[in-house]
Amino acid sequence: MDATDSGSTHSRNHELPPDPKIIWNQILAFNESANEIGREVICISLLEFLSKAESAEILLHFALSEKNTHAYLQALADYIVESHHKFVFDSINKMDEIVQSLSADESFHKPEILRLKDYFKELKNVLKEHFILEETVIFPYVRFLASTYRNKVTMPETSFRSISNTWRKMVADDLSIKDDLKKIQELCDRIKRKMTPEILKLSKELQEFEDDLLIHMYLEDRILGPFTREIESRILKN
Ligand SMILES: [Fe+2]
Ligand SMILES: [Fe+2]
Repeated sequence: MDATDSGSTHSRNHELPPDPKIIWNQILAFNESANEIGREVICISLLEFLSKAESAEILLHFALSEKNTHAYLQALADYIVESHHKFVFDSINKMDEIVQSLSADESFHKPEILRLKDYFKELKNVLKEHFILEETVIFPYVRFLASTYRNKVTMPETSFRSISNTWRKMVADDLSIKDDLKKIQELCDRIKRKMTPEILKLSKELQEFEDDLLIHMYLEDRILGPFTREIESRILKN
């Protein structure tokens, strides 16, 4: 499920990516005036942008070459939490409600629905643990690096030696989340034999969830991770 390799919602093309400044400005504006632009607009731009293989490098290079690099780092961390983390929780709760209502429907094949409930529970637990790590450890550290870099001060003592090890755990979690999501999708496809409004709702929500996760993981793994490591190493070199 790589944004550069997904044929699901957008097709790969080989035109030059749009100006990275437009993308960054949208992200900056989203955080400055919450929702003035709206996550939909940003997500569409991001999907279009990320569908080009070289986009991550272009976006990163642009932010690192600007004099307000710290603001881009901070904005990206805030945007991911404000937009994508909130979306994931809302979406997973909606899907959970649908799965609960399906399990109350006697006409469904019970073992499949029970398995679906278990997979959702597993996915929720992994996501919850993953977000706690991000929101209480990783993202505060990213914001701390952004302000250290902006103020051109040397790095005080922190609990981190380097962000690298913790980031490896995040990427491993992402693989497990993708795996859980795949199991849910396969099961949902089987249940779709009996198409009801509830099943339709679930598969639509699942598709939106996957599309959003695609952007979310791409931003974290391909942009925020390398961005943070680069800023950390620039600070440590001072
Ligand atoms: Fe995240
Ligand atoms: Fe993550």
